[in-house]
Amino acid sequence: MKPMGPIPPEFAGQQGMLTIGGRAADDLVAEAGSPCFVYDPAIVAARVARFRAALPGVDLHYAMKANPFPPLLAAIAPLVDGIDVASAGELALALTAKPAASISFAGPGKRDAELEAAITAGATLNVESANEARRALAIGDRLGRTPRLAVRVNPDLELKGSGMKMGGRPSPFGIDAEQAAEAVRLIVAGGADWRGFHIFAGSQALDVAAIIETQAATLALAARLAEEAGAAPPLVNLGGGFGVPYFAGDVALDVERIGAALAEGLATRAAILADARFAIELGRWLVAEAGVYLTRVVDRKESRGETFLVVDGGLHHQLAASGNFGTVVRRNYPLAVVGRMGEAASEEVSVVGCLCTPLDRLGDRVALPPAAPGDVIAIFLAGAYGVTASPAAFLGHPLAAELMVGLS
Ligand SMILES: Cc1ncc(COP(=O)(O)O)c(C=O)c1O
Repeated sequence: MKPMGPIPPEFAGQQGMLTIGGRAADDLVAEAGSPCFVYDPAIVAARVARFRAALPGVDLHYAMKANPFPPLLAAIAPLVDGIDVASAGELALALTAKPAASISFAGPGKRDAELEAAITAGATLNVESANEARRALAIGDRLGRTPRLAVRVNPDLELKGSGMKMGGRPSPFGIDAEQAAEAVRLIVAGGADWRGFHIFAGSQALDVAAIIETQAATLALAARLAEEAGAAPPLVNLGGGFGVPYFAGDVALDVERIGAALAEGLATRAAILADARFAIELGRWLVAEAGVYLTRVVDRKESRGETFLVVDGGLHHQLAASGNFGTVVRRNYPLAVVGRMGEAASEEVSVVGCLCTPLDRLGDRVALPPAAPGDVIAIFLAGAYGVTASPAAFLGHPLAAELMVGLS
């Protein structure tokens, strides 16, 4: 038997039929079809409320790459101060939900058409290189528009313990800290509206001390770069990286401790940052636990001592749960049999998807109550990096349905 991650608190204590936003999981599958992703915006709203209480005065941006499902985005947009996008496609969607002035666009390799779309709309471009800054300035000139440009910094620090490190090394993301001040001067001299710094050091961190240390170092770096550039940034995006407990042994983040430490750092910040606003940019921490992937068992078979529940979904919808989206060692996400919540596990099974690859394993030798063909399996933590981060076209199976339950 191999352990599973913890079922999110909103679902953990349930008995009998799993409910999501007050609705029975089997009804949701009957409505949407199997497999489907179901999202509960009330869980997102609770995360936002917790952030607001723990980090008062700090702006909250939603990194919509985590989940761009339009109804969910529409529910989140009024709750946050900004939306961070990573493509012209995301920009177009974000503009349906939030004014351009609160949208920022980060990502390497922005094409001219993407720069133009952002400048025309009035969104902020987080420039990833001096070249990109020059191209944006030239496009602004051509359009007769003043581009809103922030400098994305490749920091000389990394977020320790994070699942994905994005600083402290050579990188396609951001301008090396050593050259960031020069980029600010270029932007200001070019007549753009300089919006400040974007400093993103990593993602999926569950180590509170490491997050606190990184935020303090990021604040100090922003002050140093502003001094060097001789310009006060209107906004410092301190990155994010708040992780969620996917696996056995993972413990949810103590964001109140993070907020207390950041408040201290902000209270004693350098004079050049006195008038700056500060933002934290979060994706999965806001939405991962709000989503459940539901997939029906098609077959049950024994093979050389192992029991397999073969489901109609798989890694083509929920790649991350199969361990093939940025994890080094495959571990089990939390799973349940939807009609048997709270029942003691009585057997060891492997839950596998319908793709003909051994990679398509959604639960590896997990302990579950008994399940048979027709039963529905829930895979939790499916609200982030599911549908849009999975190879949906692989093998030509149908797409997963997506459904948002009402705000309860
Ligand atoms: C620049 C940037 N912002 C935000 C995120 C979202 O990270 P997470 O969903 O872990 O909060 C990422 C993740 O790759 C990122 O690269």
